[in-house]
Amino acid sequence: MQKFYIETVGCQMNVLDSELVCSALHQAGWQQVDTPTHADVALFNTCSVRQHAEDKIYSALGRLKEWKGEKPDRLVGVLGCMAQKDQKMIFSRAPLVDFVLGPGKLHILVETIEQLLASHPRSAKKVFVSLHRTTDNHADVLESFRMYNPDRTITNSQDAALVCITFGCNQFCSYCIVPFVRGPEQSRNPQDIVNEVKHLADKGVTKITFIGQTVNSYRYQEGNKTAHLADLLYQTSGIAGVEQIDFVTNYPLGIDGGLIHAVRDLPKVAKHFHVPAQSGSDAVLERMNRHYTAAQYRDMTDRIYGTIPAATITSDFIVGFCGETDEDFEQTVDLVKYCRFRNSFIFKYSERDGTKAAKFYADDVPDAVKRYRNNRLLEVQVDISRQHAAANDNRTI
Ligand code: 5AD
Ligand code: SF4
Repeated sequence: MQKFYIETVGCQMNVLDSELVCSALHQAGWQQVDTPTHADVALFNTCSVRQHAEDKIYSALGRLKEWKGEKPDRLVGVLGCMAQKDQKMIFSRAPLVDFVLGPGKLHILVETIEQLLASHPRSAKKVFVSLHRTTDNHADVLESFRMYNPDRTITNSQDAALVCITFGCNQFCSYCIVPFVRGPEQSRNPQDIVNEVKHLADKGVTKITFIGQTVNSYRYQEGNKTAHLADLLYQTSGIAGVEQIDFVTNYPLGIDGGLIHAVRDLPKVAKHFHVPAQSGSDAVLERMNRHYTAAQYRDMTDRIYGTIPAATITSDFIVGFCGETDEDFEQTVDLVKYCRFRNSFIFKYSERDGTKAAKFYADDVPDAVKRYRNNRLLEVQVDISRQHAAANDNRTI
């Protein structure tokens, strides 16, 4: 039996994509192994959101030199966002790579590997395939790979599964590479989603997490009816066997009354909203192209807590974005204190080629300042998280 090894970095979408890749390879008769040592194929499902994630992959590829040298017939494939973003450049930085496959092309992975293994000489057969913003039918690509798959194996956890409901992003936040590598936002057919959840529940899955770059902008038009995320929550709440439903990630402007009420009224839906704020300064939010002010963000959290007092809200922040002053940063600290997040993920700004920020704004906050702000914001958040944990303990005693 032929063996493959896969390494995954990045977001939940990559975790799900890797699960589906593993599933497709299992069905084609492949066996997954935990280290590359005895593998015939090594795959890397990559992330381009920050430079650090890319550097990690190039180091991992570098470590495979000897492995590849022992048996040059072995294959190395780079999948996911770096494959899309850097395309052929990956071959020059890591010559041992045999093929790159963008996130919109994963449905052809098995045939790509089989063709390459059958071809001689291997070195002449490096291939490059990826999704092109203008030429591929994105809806088909979304349905063909992330669709309801009756043989999908659940590799991560026996009772929890990720279900993709939207793919791609239309927001074009100025710092972010995602819209360029994952393409325009697509929403899946709600019936396919319901079928997939039913199937997963039949297999014993009790916890479902709907995932997408901005799940609360989920829209699916059929005739004169439009399905929203709240409709999906209602429909899947009715499925026997499903005990908990969660959804990530949200965009602040689309957190509307319909969604908040659905979360309040549906006992199976987790009372939790992950809504990245990114910054608490209006000037920074404007340069980030986020289309809301800190006051609007606060108002959104007021509406959530006002409707669901026990709700938890979590957030993402970028510190040291272009032109961020000490005052801007203090406004972010104030926002974290005001919104009392259960937790926040904090990142130092990392310039991405091809984005609006890279083109128009200088990455002018020194790394030491970014690090200081990262630590400071983390301290503020950890303190609030501890208070939440203590309040929870008191409630259960
Ligand atoms: N630099 C640092 N962090 C980033 N994120 C997105 N792009 C960048 C970047 N260029 C963060 C945002 C997003 C999270 C997934 O990653 O906070 O919400
Ligand atoms: Fe990137 Fe903004 Fe889209 Fe999130 S909403 S994926 S940060 S462009």
